Order: sequence, then structure tokens, then C-alpha cells
Amino acid sequence: MSMTRPDAIPIGRSGEPALQIARRCAQEAGRIALDRFRQPHEITVKGRGDLLTEADLAVERFLHRAIAEEFPGHGMLSEETAADAATDGWVWIVDPIDGTRNFVAGIPFFCVNIALCHNGEPAVAVTYDPVHDDAFWAEREGGTWLNGQPVRASNVNTVAASVLGIDLGYHDERGRAILQLAHQLFPGVQSLRVPGSAALGLAYAACGRYDLFLHHYLYPWDIAAAILLVREAGGTITNHIGSTVGVTSRTVLAGAPAAHADFLQWQADNEANLSLPDEE
Ligand code: IPD
Ligand code: CA
Ligand code: CA
Repeated sequence: MSMTRPDAIPIGRSGEPALQIARRCAQEAGRIALDRFRQPHEITVKGRGDLLTEADLAVERFLHRAIAEEFPGHGMLSEETAADAATDGWVWIVDPIDGTRNFVAGIPFFCVNIALCHNGEPAVAVTYDPVHDDAFWAEREGGTWLNGQPVRASNVNTVAASVLGIDLGYHDERGRAILQLAHQLFPGVQSLRVPGSAALGLAYAACGRYDLFLHHYLYPWDIAAAILLVREAGGTITNHIGSTVGVTSRTVLAGAPAAHADFLQWQADNEANLSLPDEE
């Protein structure tokens, strides 16, 4: 009698494997977002720079429906309508549009972010940038792919040789802390990028477009896919002080393994890190 492992990656009701379903859903979700891109929006302000549009909701509704049709027994954790869902068992973690501030401004840098996790461990990941038609995907032990080609994280050795992506997020104090850190580091890098989509920035770190990406305040729907994309691409992904990350980790440092180690060393040598005074 053959035994399947309890965390074997599931097949949907249509008979398609989860990765294929996630890729198909991300592409359709991206089309829904793209149809609304550079159109007038109904906007709800959630906080400084933190916007919600009808497009975020339309994409999220589509993803809930499409995934539930294929996997009626799975959970769903998503930014706009299911942010507090538990992560036990099989759970889809979804950001309908990552980079909404860019989306609203007409800046062509945003993505649909989807991860299927088992007890919080990502097993399938898709990050889809519909403007550039860039689909990043990974499956546990299956490597990381960009538009059908295998990709690897960068192999640069040092921070000085790195293009470093950071982002500012919505936590003002931590946002200031990351700017201070960048100020302290500069010009000790090749260049700095602030892409405005953390999920896409992390996908860029998975495929070597960025050598490193650092963020100070993420949510599960921002980071879940990246954990798998970066690891399967041979990159290193930890929190800002080098500890293991999970889907509920707030901070992240990801990219080229040697440059990642060099960055941690630089922080230690310079007493620079993103921790606020009352925490580590
Ligand atoms: C945000 C973007 C932004 C990052 C924030 C995220 P949203 O996600 O990824 O680049 O700095 O921390 O929350 O609100 O566009 O989905
Ligand atoms: Ca979002
Ligand atoms: Ca997001």
C-alpha cells in the first residue's frame, strides 16, 4: 500500500495540480487588475499611502471564488477580506494587488501574490506582474521559474557589489529606521531601489535582478510566496537579524547568500539594524 505524505501537494477538483491552478488564477487575476489599471478608481484610504481600490476587491473576490471551486476544503488568508484567518492545515495566502499605491498612481509595478501553505510552510508560490507579463513561480523541491525558465538568486559576494531593494511600508517609525539604515550604508552599495511592491521586490531578489531586498514590516500575504521563491532559487531569506522567517515574520532580508551574510556582518560592525529601541 502506498502512503502519501500528509503534506503532499494537493490536486484540485479539476484534476490540475495546485501549482498550475495557482498560475492560472494569478494570470486571470492579473488580467482583472490590468483592465482597471490607469482607469479612474474608487479609493478608500486605510492609512498614509495605504489605499484600497475596487480593483483590489475585484481581484480578491475572483481569487476566493476560483480557489474555493478547486479546493473547497482549504483555508484562505487574504489582505482585504480575510486578514485574520488561521494558518493551520492547507491555506492559500493571497495579496490581490501588491503595490496598490503604484497601481493608483499609474506606476507599472505591482503584482498578484499567491502562496499555498501547509501549516504555514509555503509549498506553492506564484508572483505575477501583469504589466510585464512576468510570472515567477516555485513548488517545494521544484526550483524557481520565471516565465518557464529556471532562475537562481544572485551570487554576488558583498553588499558593496549589490543592488539593494528596500521599501517604506506603512509603519512610520520603522520606515524612518530603514531610511536611516540606508543613509548609514550609502554609498556602500551599487544602488538602492524602492520599488513600491514588496512582493515583486522579493521576487526580483529570488531571480537575481536585485542582489538583496530588505523590508521592515510585512504581512503574511507579502512574504509567503517569497519564502519559497527565494529558497528554491538558492537564495537566503531570513529576518533582518538573520533568524529563520515564517509567514508571520515582519522583517525580511533576502537574496544572494554571500551578500546576505555580508549585510548581517555590516549591521553588526556598524550597530545598524532595523530593531526599534524596545525590541530585537
Ligand atoms: C505594500 C507594498 C509596499 C510595502 C508595504 C506593503 P500593498 O503592500 O508591498 O511596497 O512597502 O509594506 O504593505 O498595500 O500594496 O498590498
Ligand atoms: Ca495588497
Ligand atoms: Ca501587500
